[in-house]
Amino acid sequence: MAVAILVAAGSGERLGAGRPKAFVVLAGRPMIEWSLAALRAAGVDDVVVALPAGIEAPAGTRGVRGGATRSASVRAGLAAAREGEDVVVHDAARPLVEPELFARTLEALGGADCAVAAARVTDTIKEAGADGRVTATHDRSRLWAIQTPQAFRRGALERALDVPDDVLAAATDDAWLVERAGGSVVVVESSPANLKVTTPHDPQVAELLLSHRC
Ligand code: CTP
Ligand code: MG
Repeated sequence: MAVAILVAAGSGERLGAGRPKAFVVLAGRPMIEWSLAALRAAGVDDVVVALPAGIEAPAGTRGVRGGATRSASVRAGLAAAREGEDVVVHDAARPLVEPELFARTLEALGGADCAVAAARVTDTIKEAGADGRVTATHDRSRLWAIQTPQAFRRGALERALDVPDDVLAAATDDAWLVERAGGSVVVVESSPANLKVTTPHDPQVAELLLSHRC
């Protein structure tokens, strides 16, 4: 059985809700509770939560104080996780995650050090300079928008996170740290509906989708 690290230690600056984002209420529950319910439905009962200072761990989880950056929070969570298990990392800011996605990312570890939920890119992606002039158009069929959950063989994640704080700070996901350490990473196809609540428009969309669940 896998252990989960649920990262909830961010302040939610871009959302600007005046309290840590993971504890903003969405469709009647604190945001973090939606991910916890999905983890439980997936049969993952051992959950370590990285938290902001002064906030208590949700019932049935083990809390640790988060770090200054997202990957530092993952590292703090991993240090508190039991030995020898596969690890699945999830952002509390993705309350729409479906239980089966945890199972599919963990299953994909049979063939890789890390397996990440990802949605096919549907927009055309161009690169432009500071002057707005387009310099390249990328082949969309090979592009994926990366989400969480991200599942890891424990040793691979430990090696990936064993880097200086400035490298951790440069990581927008932990899979990149595995790539950097020479590990193998695969994508597991997910839905764009597994969105990350980031800006003030996102809670409205998330509430609409969550209000159909119980
Ligand atoms: N996170 C964390 N520790 C940090 C920073 C982020 O545990 N030091 C968590 C957040 O709580 C969130 C997830 O990582 O669940 C994804 O990060 P993001 O969406 O950037 O959330 P915040 O950092 O809270 O938001 P912002 O960047 O707008 O301040
Ligand atoms: Mg952030």
